[in-house]
Amino acid sequence: TDPDPVAAAIADADEVVALTGAGLSTASGIPDFRSEGGLWDEFDERAFTIGRYRAQPARFWSDWLDLHGHFFDSEVAPNPAHDALARLESGGHLDALLTQNVDGLHLEAGSESVVHLHGTGTRATCPDCGTSIPVEAARDRVESGEDAPTCDCGGVYKPDTVLFGERLPGTALQESNRRAETADVFLAAGSSLTVDPASLLPDTALRNGATLVVVNLDRTRYAGRADHVAREPVEEFLPAVADRVAEL
Ligand code: OAD
Repeated sequence: TDPDPVAAAIADADEVVALTGAGLSTASGIPDFRSEGGLWDEFDERAFTIGRYRAQPARFWSDWLDLHGHFFDSEVAPNPAHDALARLESGGHLDALLTQNVDGLHLEAGSESVVHLHGTGTRATCPDCGTSIPVEAARDRVESGEDAPTCDCGGVYKPDTVLFGERLPGTALQESNRRAETADVFLAAGSSLTVDPASLLPDTALRNGATLVVVNLDRTRYAGRADHVAREPVEEFLPAVADRVAEL
């Protein structure tokens, strides 16, 4: 796919908004969820519900730490796709970066206007008193034999990631909807666009007249309605777009 028309649309736009998913980070060595060999092949999605955290906190935490071991491996670092989005932002061509990812790699790559729709995987919070601890501290407690990491007040810490059955953080969702409404170009990258409500943001953007760009290896539900579809690796296509925008 030719990156030039996408670059031209971005260069012409007043407001550009990106939505990213797990596909952004596969080149960093983190499997995505729904591709073959993805995390939902290795783990049962039902282990990560808010109901299981409440009913079986020790087992929930053990599974959560196993899954997120993929994310917080010391080898994991941002890849050229993260870098490209950070470059677009610093060049004044990306106004908001909405992400479903909890791996923190956009921030590490230097992006600033990041909205974490599904929370972040680096900390855990006590739902009873609001005390927050690094996830590593929770891991130490679990590994030293504590059932589930428990706060001094008696509450069981919950990771700061959105669990199935939980609402998205209200401010992040409002900000994302507002951004989708005002975007001239909406770029969805590395997401299967299957998990609501994040997957509805491109629809909001389209209804408000945005140009929709989808960069994803697999076909998405927006294939027929997007203005530009690139079924290419994000770590190749996004840098090509960012290079071109910088030349325009
Ligand atoms: P998915 O695993 O559903 O989709 C990732 C998409 O990225 C797939 O369609 C792949 O084809 C594509 N992909 C993988 N590597 C790529 C690459 N290098 N270049 C281009 N495309 C690539 O992940 P998400 O859409 O992020 O929720 O999933 C959404 C949510 O489902 C996640 O945030 C998580 C999960 O349940 C929570 O944890 C709440």
